[in-house]
Amino acid sequence: MPEIGEIIENKPIGGDYHRLVVRSKALMDSSPGQFTHLLVQSPKGPNTWDPLLRRPLSIYDVDGERASFLYKTVGRGTKLLANRLPGETIDLLGPLGRGFKITSAPALLIGGGVGAAPMLFLARKLHEQGRDFVVLLGAKTGEELAFAGDFGKFSSHLYLVTDDGSLGSCGLVTDSVPELVAQFKIPPKLYACGPIPMLSCLAGLAAQHNFTLDVSLEAKMACGVGACLACTCFLKDGSTARVCADGPVFPYEAIEWGRRDG
Ligand SMILES: Cc1cc2nc3c(=O)[nH]c(=O)nc-3n(C[C@H](O)[C@H](O)[C@H](O)COP(=O)(O)OP(=O)(O)OC[C@H]3O[C@@H](n4cnc5c(N)ncnc54)[C@H](O)[C@@H]3O)c2cc1C
Ligand code: FES
Repeated sequence: MPEIGEIIENKPIGGDYHRLVVRSKALMDSSPGQFTHLLVQSPKGPNTWDPLLRRPLSIYDVDGERASFLYKTVGRGTKLLANRLPGETIDLLGPLGRGFKITSAPALLIGGGVGAAPMLFLARKLHEQGRDFVVLLGAKTGEELAFAGDFGKFSSHLYLVTDDGSLGSCGLVTDSVPELVAQFKIPPKLYACGPIPMLSCLAGLAAQHNFTLDVSLEAKMACGVGACLACTCFLKDGSTARVCADGPVFPYEAIEWGRRDG
């Protein structure tokens, strides 16, 4: 059932990113890696049905009744969302999907670009559980890591990588992974979210080095609840899965990386 939440904050934080904070009781029960399907338009506008489809956003953080989202303005829906004001209501459907399975192993959290979004909530949970973990965030430029400071609340082991070297090390986020894994005394579990080429590269590293890796996939979504099959992806065993309901988090071995769009 959708919930009507109140917008507490919705502001730009740099690099085309906004942070949205809403008051929500339903999202208090969410877990890292789950997402929310949001109606982005104002309920007071002339066309309250347009756009018809909700937009999926990962749950960035949950602190009591305050649920946060980190979103990048990329198209009409996210631009409409950026116009929403504190004090307005917003229609939220969630928490949805299957999130990360936290194990007792130490953890390496890897976020590429806005793929960092589900990692903050995961960092909060690992911090609350007193777990050993490292966060690795990468983006094209330092501006696109405008949110990185949020991670300082939960982790003192934060590594930043940019393609152009404007913040942190210069290179691709995947370049740093084998070296970071080698620094753990016990082999860590890897949790990753980001663009498909990054996840595919990590899957190759995991297969080569025998890493345990969960990936959070993105797909174009319509219903968000497993009914329309708009979001299917191919699995290694020849079957398909619904990213919204069977994922968005999958063990990397389950995914057929050579094929997209089931
Ligand atoms: C489970 C899940 C979690 C997500 N979490 C976040 C998040 O935390 N923060 C965030 O900024 N974005 C997230 N996304 C992506 C976000 O949903 C899309 O960027 C958004 O729906 C685009 O809407 P739009 O109307 O602004 O853009 P559109 O006008 O619909 O499209 C603009 C561009 O974005 C691409 N796009 C549209 N929808 C998606 C999608 N679902 N996945 C990937 N690319 C898309 C289009 O191909 C196009 O290039 C998530 C997607 C999924 C499936
Ligand atoms: S979006 Fe409808 S089944 Fe996934």
